[in-house]
Amino acid sequence: MFKIVKYPDPVLTTPAEPVTEFGPRLEQIVEEMFLTMYQERGVGLAAPQVGISKRIFVVNCAEDQPPEGEIALINPEIVSVEGEQWGDEGCLSFPGMFAKKMRPMKVTMRAQNVKGEWFEVTGEKLLARALLHERDHLDGNLFVQDLEPAEFVKLRKDLETMKRNYKRSHARA
Ligand code: NI
Repeated sequence: MFKIVKYPDPVLTTPAEPVTEFGPRLEQIVEEMFLTMYQERGVGLAAPQVGISKRIFVVNCAEDQPPEGEIALINPEIVSVEGEQWGDEGCLSFPGMFAKKMRPMKVTMRAQNVKGEWFEVTGEKLLARALLHERDHLDGNLFVQDLEPAEFVKLRKDLETMKRNYKRSHARA
């Protein structure tokens, strides 16, 4: 199982590298990312959040998260977006923190699967939000970065606490 990297670790704000090698090692990473996501009760997880700066993310937004709901996206790109939704969003790298955020209501993405084959996926509502949130992670963009001021204010204290804790845990003796 992977350990979740927490804000403000620099890997989270570093643009991830494209995946060029497809095979058992990639399949193993994806498998372990799903397990870590379920363990942490998330609906999406991007590779930088487990310290791997590669363009990989996994989502499962189906109710009760059956295996059929699993989608792994490698080197994903946005094909189109449509509409708007305003709703709560959180992130496993910001435990317990939620803010309301505007996102498109629907998104279509193009990505490779673990075998390197290209496919398209369209998501609405929660799945659209998760696909876009995780895609942002691959560019080093975090959900707290472009919040409405009134929403950002609610998180400011917690963000400062996370920064202090990070500094403390990474201080050299
Ligand atoms: Ni996240």
